[in-house]
Amino acid sequence: MAVVIDGAEIARRVKERVASGVAELEKEKGVKACLSVILVGDDPASISYVTGKEKALAEAGMADRSVRLPADVSQEELLALIAELNEDDSVHGILVQLPLPGHIDSRKVIMAIKPEKDVDGFHPVNLGNMVIGSRSFIPCTPNGVVKLLKETGIQTDGARAVIVGRSNIVGKPLSILLSGRDCNSTVTLCHTGTRNLPEITRQADILVAAVGRPGVITADMVKPGAAVIDVGVNRVPDSSKKSGFRLTGDVDFEAVKEKASFITPVPKGVGPMTIAMLMYNTLEAACLAYGYDKVRF
Ligand code: GUN
Repeated sequence: MAVVIDGAEIARRVKERVASGVAELEKEKGVKACLSVILVGDDPASISYVTGKEKALAEAGMADRSVRLPADVSQEELLALIAELNEDDSVHGILVQLPLPGHIDSRKVIMAIKPEKDVDGFHPVNLGNMVIGSRSFIPCTPNGVVKLLKETGIQTDGARAVIVGRSNIVGKPLSILLSGRDCNSTVTLCHTGTRNLPEITRQADILVAAVGRPGVITADMVKPGAAVIDVGVNRVPDSSKKSGFRLTGDVDFEAVKEKASFITPVPKGVGPMTIAMLMYNTLEAACLAYGYDKVRF
């Protein structure tokens, strides 16, 4: 029976260290680290993510310059807002919540954010620097997964890691991080073109599910003793809940937990880590803006 990894507790510890870094920067440089989260439209899941980010900002003692825009805002208006925030020295990080409405080109929007303020780590400059191992903002969810593994004491060095899902936000960057020298894993990145997926996932010491479909990872796909990290956050209808839905991951949790050595739950697994790493990146952006290099952990 697996140890259930308490992502909320590990995230709490990271956020506590960020909060003391925020206080240190303010004391030494008189600067309050500040993030602007831009939400376009009223997708319920996005609203819930953005609310979580705003709560974490307040808890970390950071300034919050979040902006909510209507779903029909034009691409030009959004780009103009980003240009304004790029030039505003009191804003250190800019995050545009994805997905964006269909009439807006997400790539153009991501490219418009100054790499020094791109705390999501989605700008090609940051992704490129990450690939070659130079200093960059690391995308928050993959960084959170690595932090969970390290803080839990799961051995990545020499491990066989299998990631299911090749999104730009999770799967692709995570494959780079896990195969880098700091993790030193041997990585296989699976996707819709993968033949015989269960045969590959059964080889994993570390299995990461980042597909976005409930229950795609079943117990027969897991090697006994594997560490299973579930990045999926899926809303499934549940009439017993006030909201009418419950959250579930990509992994068949009840069956897989009998077979794995470690498993993350949904919620309270990877999700809180994403927010914690966003707070970390925002502090880092503020420190970089003032050439302050003392905050380290
Ligand atoms: N939508 C889902 N995950 C993310 C994320 O990490 N960053 C942004 N900006 N949007 C998201």
